[in-house]
Amino acid sequence: MKQALVEDIEAAPTSYGSINLKRDELIAALGELDSLDEIATLRKKTGELKRLIASRDSGMLVEVESKGDFVALRRDVLNSELDQILDARTIERARYYVKRLERGVTKVRTSSINDINLNRWQESTDIITDSLWVLPKRDSTGAHLAWYWGNFIPQIPHQLMLRYTKKGDWVLDPFVGSGTTLIECRRLGRNGIGIDLNAEVANEAEKLVGQEKNRHSVRTEIVSGDARTVDAQRMLDKLRVKQVQLLIMHPPYHDIISFSDDEKDLSNAKSISQFIKMFGETLDNITPVLERGRYFGLVIGDKYSKGEWIPLGFYCMSEVLKRSYSLKSIVVKNFEETRAKRDQKQLWRYRALVGGFYIFKHEYVFIFKKK
Ligand SMILES: C[S@@+](CC[C@H](N)C(=O)[O-])C[C@H]1O[C@@H](n2cnc3c(N)ncnc32)[C@H](O)[C@@H]1O
Repeated sequence: MKQALVEDIEAAPTSYGSINLKRDELIAALGELDSLDEIATLRKKTGELKRLIASRDSGMLVEVESKGDFVALRRDVLNSELDQILDARTIERARYYVKRLERGVTKVRTSSINDINLNRWQESTDIITDSLWVLPKRDSTGAHLAWYWGNFIPQIPHQLMLRYTKKGDWVLDPFVGSGTTLIECRRLGRNGIGIDLNAEVANEAEKLVGQEKNRHSVRTEIVSGDARTVDAQRMLDKLRVKQVQLLIMHPPYHDIISFSDDEKDLSNAKSISQFIKMFGETLDNITPVLERGRYFGLVIGDKYSKGEWIPLGFYCMSEVLKRSYSLKSIVVKNFEETRAKRDQKQLWRYRALVGGFYIFKHEYVFIFKKK
């Protein structure tokens, strides 16, 4: 192992920055660590490797433009893995950590439903695994303009796609609105199909999605139609696609926002039961095109009517569970105040105190798996 003198890795920023290391050299160094029987020697050599990695002059680091075979690792994660080796009390434990690091460098292990490298899962800190999503700010970069009243924040489809799809998979959103899901599809290299009843909205969405760079050369299609009756299989046939791998639905929250005058619009349902019936018809129409064993994310919030909390979310959830789905998670996501509510904050607070209710601050992302 080469000796290194220069700066300690600790002195480098421990942000999410990644470092590129020569693959062969790193594998050789880890192989050497793995062959040691003495904990003191292993610790000494690990310390040397850590310094070597941090040193700009050691030759282990390569520039991004370099053509050589290198491995890109997250600096902070690599640091903590090396520290784990250094802190191990027994040689067996230390070698276990060395082997784990070796696997992360040499092998990619993914499941059949996403691209998360399970040999380097520690690097996936951007993927939420808790059931409470507190997303403080809307991602408004790229083509995400937030022009549509009633859109969802891009982080929702972003998270769902990272967890439940691989690059090149197909995602279907039958209430696509302003196209948030499809913009995210382009960014993450997933193909996407969107449906919306409102032809004008579908047109606008198509333009907007077209403005997002298509770095991964995916296909994104928007169709205007009624999600309950549109021939989804024919749409897929035209694209020469058998089934989709992820379904995302963000229907109107009944009549909270009226999206059009069209009676086929779920936001114009005359009653809660009619809304649930229309939602069920959408499920019946769309479910067949979702591949078995794949996932469905339903985003919906509740509403108030005549002094009562109407649990729209749970009504819709039970409608889904009447069909061929199992429930995987109920995620509670914080709900940013609408502009109108923010302006009337005190008034709403007063109303809540008088009316015995709580002001909505959350909505749901229900996660289902098709049986
Ligand atoms: C809550 S918004 C979806 C917003 C979308 N997630 C976004 O980020 O822009 C619901 C959408 O469902 C559409 N919609 C209502 N009834 C529909 C139906 N029967 N078929 C298809 N789309 C419908 C509305 O036009 C509206 O754009």
